Amino acid sequence: MLKEYKKRIERLRKDIRQHETLYYAKDSPVISDRDYDLLMRELQGLEEKFPELICKESPTQRVGGMVSEQFHPVIHKAPMLSLDNTYSIDELRDFHARVLKGLGGFLSKDIEYSVELKFDGLAVALTYEKGVFVKGATRGNGKEGEDITANLRTIKSVPLTIPMNKEKINFLEVRGEVFMPLEIFRKLNKTREKNNEVSFANPRNAAAGSLRLLDPVITASRQLDIFVYGISERVNSLKTHSETQNMLQRLGFKVNTNHYVCGCFKDVLPYIEKWRTKKNKLNYDIDGLVIKVNSLDFQKVLGATTKFPRWAVAYKYEAEKGETKIENIVCQVGRTGAITPVALLTPVFISGSTVSRATLHNEDEIKRKDIRIGDRVVIEKSGEIIPKVVRVILSGNIKRGVLFKMPTQCPECKSDLIRPRGEVILRCFNYFCPAQLKERLLHFASRNAMDIDHLGPSIIEQLIESQLVRNFSDLYKLDYLSLTKLERMAGKSAKNLVEAIEKSKSAGLARLLYALGVRHVGQRTGVVLSRHFHSMLNLQNAKSEEIQFVMEIGETVAKSLEAFFSLQSNTEEIAQLAKIGVQMEVKGEVVGDGLFGKQFVVTGSLEALTRDEAKKKISALGGRVTSNVSKKTDYVVVGSDPGSKADKARKMGIEIINEKKFKEMLGI
Ligand code: IVH
Repeated sequence: MLKEYKKRIERLRKDIRQHETLYYAKDSPVISDRDYDLLMRELQGLEEKFPELICKESPTQRVGGMVSEQFHPVIHKAPMLSLDNTYSIDELRDFHARVLKGLGGFLSKDIEYSVELKFDGLAVALTYEKGVFVKGATRGNGKEGEDITANLRTIKSVPLTIPMNKEKINFLEVRGEVFMPLEIFRKLNKTREKNNEVSFANPRNAAAGSLRLLDPVITASRQLDIFVYGISERVNSLKTHSETQNMLQRLGFKVNTNHYVCGCFKDVLPYIEKWRTKKNKLNYDIDGLVIKVNSLDFQKVLGATTKFPRWAVAYKYEAEKGETKIENIVCQVGRTGAITPVALLTPVFISGSTVSRATLHNEDEIKRKDIRIGDRVVIEKSGEIIPKVVRVILSGNIKRGVLFKMPTQCPECKSDLIRPRGEVILRCFNYFCPAQLKERLLHFASRNAMDIDHLGPSIIEQLIESQLVRNFSDLYKLDYLSLTKLERMAGKSAKNLVEAIEKSKSAGLARLLYALGVRHVGQRTGVVLSRHFHSMLNLQNAKSEEIQFVMEIGETVAKSLEAFFSLQSNTEEIAQLAKIGVQMEVKGEVVGDGLFGKQFVVTGSLEALTRDEAKKKISALGGRVTSNVSKKTDYVVVGSDPGSKADKARKMGIEIINEKKFKEMLGI
């Protein structure tokens, strides 16, 4: 019977892998998403029933692995070189001339070049041994990178197994670029803004940030993708770079389809022009093209400098520019009170769209570039970056515009603006400025914050307009009578809303911390802070230095909290909330804190639970799991077949516990 199930599990894994390659790497699925989900669910069901049959290569096991405190160094077998780059066709001709010279004695005909897109992401190396993905690393400084295997496993277009035996190879290191598709990037930034988190400047930063997260579960949610473009060492049977790419494709990797083999150098040039505008229509950022000598023998003859191969060069596209006039300069109040000057422009068409606004960033930037209202200016637009003013066009007979002065009062609430010492941004510090209030209330009520059902945007607007609500605590003063006086508010809706607001009083400290909308305090930070401090009062009384040394919290969060609690209006608001009965202490949301502050390492396999389950249980009780034994480790849990970690722990005198004792600690 077990044999039958085993066979079915193997069949499912094989089919799912095939469908994943077709869907994620080749963009040509042959079954519907629903049918794919059904296969996946069947596999998950069987694996739950027979956990002993789960293996790391199963498509169900992409997300998981231990969260370590840091990424371990990886020395690259062959250095990960960078590319020499140029912005000019003349320099590209020079490159071709150098190639010709370098190959002087070997040439019998024209040189073939492979031309491909230069993806603007992060270079990574994926190592496969005997067909299994065993290690993934960042480029780092080219010689040494960091081990980010757990995060790379979450990228669906990274195959966990490949049919290497077909190519008669045992070892393969594949190189490629991880990136974030543009629509995912836009969605992510929207959510981050909503959640009071700093948004990413561009998709590349977002991809880099996502790959360096310590929690693969979050990395998985970022929906990263990868294009592979090469291997670290030549495979004997291959003669050209394009053959290498074909092999990678056969193995199930995602190779970009926009690559061309040019019979001679002059055929390269039209591709450069073609992609200059076509790049704006892609669903990912590229910053140029890469031109590579196609023959692997020629590549070997040409060799490399310490930094770059001599057989490849990157042609980069300049950010596209346009000329226009500044009609006016206005100031916007951001959700966190930041005042940003924005130039309103005579509309101008650049890289496929009309630009009518450009950010001027801040006062210093306006002064530095001496930008005035009425000036003619050069505007630049590049990828996902907001258009900016590069410079003013000056010539003898052009009349200069009118100087712009930053306002002294908030354009929304008229309170005095402050530019904190050492900062470049002018801010409205009125926490309840209407420009900020609606968004703050929406955030406060949102599902991951206080989770107040029925409190949507239109009701919030009505509540602000009618002056019933000026801050969070006012929400808790609303009653049936005052609500039914509002337009379009039926008795039933009013009753539901009052109940939902009342229920939110016990949302818990973690949610409340997030709901307050303090800059840089996201959902996860709320949880970490609540676990450490247990009450709002403890946090309020903590010194900034103490906060900053809490695991996962840094100086930015600590400073932001300090600034928040230093304002009397904020502490008064918190006191009001407490008085009304909003829960200010940890009660239900952390299941317990029996293991509070304790650090665990789990080694060997446990009988009663998987490592992932063990990790979840420890963390629910306030403890942490790391993958390596260090001075900070409190307990090493040892299952059957433990590795060297147990020996290390013994030597270091760290307490070793067996599964029985561990289960007692967990109360199971
Ligand atoms: S080949 C030894 N091909 O560009 C040659 N690189 O500026 C190694 N990149 O570190 C690179 N797209 O991260 C190559 N189609 C492509 C690429 C590409 C993007 C990145 C890569 C490299 C950087 C160099």
